[in-house]
Amino acid sequence: MRYGFIGVGMMGQEHIRNVQALPGATVVAIADPDATSLGAAQELAGETVSAYLSVAEMLAKESLDAVVISSPNFTHRSVLEPLWQTSLHLLIEKPLCTTVEDCLHVQAAADSHDGIVWVGLEYRYMPPVQRFLQELGVGQAGTHSPEKSSTGRVRMLSIREHRFPFLDKVGHWNRFSANTGGTLVEKCCHFFDLMRVAIPSRPVRVMASGAQDVNHLDERYPEGTPDILDNAFVIVEFENGARASLDLSMFAEGSAFEQELVAVGDLGKVEVKIPGFMELARGRQAELIVGSRSTGWPVTSEQIGAEESVRYLGAHHGASYLEHVDFCSAIRNGTAPLVTATDGLWSVAMGTAAQTSLAEGRAVTLAEIGLS
Ligand SMILES: NC(=O)c1ccc[n+]([C@@H]2O[C@H](COP(=O)([O-])OP(=O)(O)OC[C@H]3O[C@@H](n4cnc5c(N)ncnc54)[C@H](O)[C@@H]3O)[C@@H](O)[C@H]2O)c1
Repeated sequence: MRYGFIGVGMMGQEHIRNVQALPGATVVAIADPDATSLGAAQELAGETVSAYLSVAEMLAKESLDAVVISSPNFTHRSVLEPLWQTSLHLLIEKPLCTTVEDCLHVQAAADSHDGIVWVGLEYRYMPPVQRFLQELGVGQAGTHSPEKSSTGRVRMLSIREHRFPFLDKVGHWNRFSANTGGTLVEKCCHFFDLMRVAIPSRPVRVMASGAQDVNHLDERYPEGTPDILDNAFVIVEFENGARASLDLSMFAEGSAFEQELVAVGDLGKVEVKIPGFMELARGRQAELIVGSRSTGWPVTSEQIGAEESVRYLGAHHGASYLEHVDFCSAIRNGTAPLVTATDGLWSVAMGTAAQTSLAEGRAVTLAEIGLS
């Protein structure tokens, strides 16, 4: 399988490492308008890989099977335009786009595209998240079997991410909401996606409160001072009556666990705690805790070590590698993508509703921003 890469900054280089580790896959070409990113990626990929400052030139000259798009969020829609004229298989980084309107445009193009269109919502693939979802009775293709779960019907889901601030990016594009979609789109689309995977229902209403209280306030760019939210609480209500919450802090480097997910249903409670890369390097493992409401209220816990099949660990417990395994296998077997443009659209729409809610101080329905 011959891969090309569009946008080879931090995440593009992570994708290159994943594809290098993937059996039967070859890194063939890379494209990025930034000479520094291109040079670093070329060094990583090797001299036999063709490097282009122009995406159009790469597409014209190379024979590829799949393309991985890791350019900044606000470029995804325009970067994709020439790719719709091909039948290449596409893996598009999250968030799908920065606005619901752009996501709807991409979703329509994806629907009539010959190749597979896959969105990089890779947190689904973190091995501790997969164990958590398994306990909730969620199958790999997103099927729900509450009768096989430890929770029964999930009524409450809370997700906490307490982490380090946003890293610097090429041309500091991620310092401004206009480029990212806002923190609750850029970063939290992963968590809104996990809510939809864990709860078999449509999100209907979102309430949020948040601010930029600590990070990046002393930074100055030609465009001005960054406008990045660094903390928020979000509540999402689902059509089936379940509710989910997100607790985000981006000035919480000193956390034993970077993500904590807790689901409570009519039968029990499942919790997973996932260390960030620093704590992981210091030897802390993810923990899964399962509790029941049955006689004696039994609680069990287990540590989740590295997933053996992962050949490149990356920054998220091997999630990107496992995502590539499924993307590649869908291409080989001609099967449907497991993470679709529609998933990308909903995760952006929920983030957009949350951004609107906190800006306007009111509850926002998904229907009013065009999804129902
Ligand atoms: N899945 C994850 O957990 C995860 C983590 C980090 C970033 N991302 C996503 O990956 C994407 C890239 O983020 P990053 O951290 O690598 O940023 P980055 O700034 O490190 O790299 C982006 C690269 O894209 C290039 N670029 C800009 N415009 C382009 C265009 N029109 N065509 C081709 N290349 C272009 C830039 O020159 C730069 O080299 C973003 O969408 C981001 O949200 C996902």
